[in-house]
Amino acid sequence: MGVKGMRIPVIAGNWKMNKNIVESASLVKELKDFVRGIKGVDIVVCPPFSSLWVVKEIISETNIHLGAQNMYWETKGAFTGEISPLMLKDVGCEYIILGHSERRQYFKETSKEVARKTEVALSVNLTPIICVGENLEERENGKTESVIEEEIKALFPKIDPTFAARIIIAYEPIWAIGTGKSSSSEDASVIIKYIRELFSSKYGSKIAERIRILYGGSVNPKNIGEFINESDIDGALVGGASLNALTFSQIAKAAKIL
Ligand code: PGA
Repeated sequence: MGVKGMRIPVIAGNWKMNKNIVESASLVKELKDFVRGIKGVDIVVCPPFSSLWVVKEIISETNIHLGAQNMYWETKGAFTGEISPLMLKDVGCEYIILGHSERRQYFKETSKEVARKTEVALSVNLTPIICVGENLEERENGKTESVIEEEIKALFPKIDPTFAARIIIAYEPIWAIGTGKSSSSEDASVIIKYIRELFSSKYGSKIAERIRILYGGSVNPKNIGEFINESDIDGALVGGASLNALTFSQIAKAAKIL
């Protein structure tokens, strides 16, 4: 078994602000049947907050895990409109997407805030899926690595070495999100290796080799194979294609360790 064999692939579906309660229930019921019995891949769905409960009821005792798309860094108090990591635990979440580019872009979340959220998520035993990635202009100006470096290094003061191996990173080039124009697997692999090196230089290679690093951006059943074949890519964060049970299940099946 190579180093990659130590890391169980993750396929996480980010439903974003889609699917009401009835639609969520029907999507996840279908998905449950499509992925029944599949092992060797961690399958995660991240519905909107309003659907978490109904989805949890349907997936309990299945191989599908629950995640949310955002949270606050305090656990309770007068923070109108925010949601606590403990509330997410309470409803059955095991995973939490943090720092998605849409949150950084539209809601001005900073890398420092993402780091605070990461620290709290780890402390309540939620597994953070932390998103990083460059936009088109940054890429064209040769700034990809410096953008990634800033986003990753901001996390370090808030990630205790005892928790570091538990985090999941999603490398999502912003220009590839929702555009149908995915990165090449070779290009994604170069950046993902770079991300692993950054963790290695801070936490040591043993820990860095246990961190799962995903690719995200226009992943579909046709291109997942290329990404998963790369030795450093441990799965995918899937947006559009996770809104359909069949395509999402096909992606999950393609990613499992044989
Ligand atoms: P996409 O979204 O698969 O629709 O490109 C990915 C994401 O935003 O996580």
